[in-house]
Amino acid sequence: MTALTLAAIGAGNRGADVYARYALDHPNEADYIAVAEPISERRERLSVAHDIAPEMQFASWEELLSKPKLADAVVIATQDQEHTAPALAALRAGYDVLLEKPMATTLADCVALVRAAEAAGRVLQICHVLRYTDFFTQIYDIIQSGRLGDIITVEHRENVAYWHMAHSYVRGNWRRADETSPMILAKCCHDFDILYWVLGEKVSRLHSVGSLRHFRPENAPRPDVPARCTDGCPVEAECPFSAPGIYLQHRPFRAVAGALGLPPDADLSPYLSWPLTTLAHGDTRPATLRKALEEGPYGRCVYHSDNDVVDHQVVMMETEGGTSVTLFMHGHSHEQSRTMRYDGTRATLEAKFAAHNEILIHDHLTGETETRRWFGGLDGHGGGDHRLMAGFLQTLRDGTRAPLTDARAALESHLLAFAAEDARLTGGSVDMEAFRKRALVS
Ligand SMILES: NC(=O)c1ccc[n+]([C@@H]2O[C@H](COP(=O)([O-])OP(=O)(O)OC[C@H]3O[C@@H](n4cnc5c(N)ncnc54)[C@H](O)[C@@H]3O)[C@@H](O)[C@H]2O)c1
Repeated sequence: MTALTLAAIGAGNRGADVYARYALDHPNEADYIAVAEPISERRERLSVAHDIAPEMQFASWEELLSKPKLADAVVIATQDQEHTAPALAALRAGYDVLLEKPMATTLADCVALVRAAEAAGRVLQICHVLRYTDFFTQIYDIIQSGRLGDIITVEHRENVAYWHMAHSYVRGNWRRADETSPMILAKCCHDFDILYWVLGEKVSRLHSVGSLRHFRPENAPRPDVPARCTDGCPVEAECPFSAPGIYLQHRPFRAVAGALGLPPDADLSPYLSWPLTTLAHGDTRPATLRKALEEGPYGRCVYHSDNDVVDHQVVMMETEGGTSVTLFMHGHSHEQSRTMRYDGTRATLEAKFAAHNEILIHDHLTGETETRRWFGGLDGHGGGDHRLMAGFLQTLRDGTRAPLTDARAALESHLLAFAAEDARLTGGSVDMEAFRKRALVS
């Protein structure tokens, strides 16, 4: 097999550590031959790892895409606000594109991307990695097989762990809706996508409530807590959100020691990557991390950041076939997981997608329960990250099949997320058919 040539646009966590990593593990499938990344440490790190020639290293996507087409495809893993422009330019330049989610931060841009890809006849695949996991493939197969009968209700929960909430949505990249996107889009476009795919039906009506309930100055445990955890905070030792606790002592990740058969107080540094890799361009040495906490955004007190995205939101939906669905998203979970329950006319399914996966199917007629349990891994979205990349490359090699998560398929989940945010802000109910029509004709 001849390896397809790829150019990385954005060499941060996802671009370098996830998708480009796949090429290092599968050199016969993909070869990174160019990179565009403004941060020189990141550009160099990816260039060294993939042996990219100096003339193929660019400081921005604008520079890379101004050259004649230089690879088979581009992988765009820039921040949310920086998706539409490089994706449109790449499609215009004749590239097939793998684009991170959310595909865009406005509905008009999402629609523009779908139209541009279809007009250009190019692959535009969105990184809805969950569809590629073993776990959600099983859920899809079970529901689609009819084993549960007609699905009457669904409860799907996106349980964001308290430390992940603090990392990404209070201190980190997705803390402000005006700089990135509302949390229901950033976090739950995956969940809407899974619900739409598994049920195979569009939503006809939705409502939503939610707010930023906890991570606000008035909820600080004492009035004298400093702006940074490292500035002598009097309650640092007892605060679950302590930055040194999370990033230097690895308090939330102690369970990993047990899973790996290590003593409870073992040094976990060699086993942890994200979120530690986010702090200092992948350098996770303790002294570097401490400096990053003292100077950078990840050392801020969670009660004194400049965050404004919600920490919980609930969306109630009715599908065209009459199924009632609730999506709960919140940032106060003890563990990172998605949990779900489907009640059908023939059986009930209860499931958990986490490091330890579980699917239970309770049959109404026999009273028996089928139990599936397996270890899904500590990161990589349960294997979805790498299988998505494998799927993208396979689509390019075939030259015919549309990818499982092409832009047209991804549009529905984004429509639902934008509608949910509208409903939350206005307190109203959204007629999805009218919402869809408005989005597609405007
Ligand atoms: N599919 C998933 O499950 C999943 C998970 C996490 C994040 N994401 C998404 O992936 C995207 C990237 O996230 P990340 O955590 O890797 O972010 P990141 O900030 O680590 O990486 C983004 C990179 O883009 C670079 N960049 C900025 N301007 C650029 C330009 N003009 N040209 C080229 N590069 C430029 C930045 O310097 C940065 O290194 C985000 O949209 C995020 O929402 C998806």
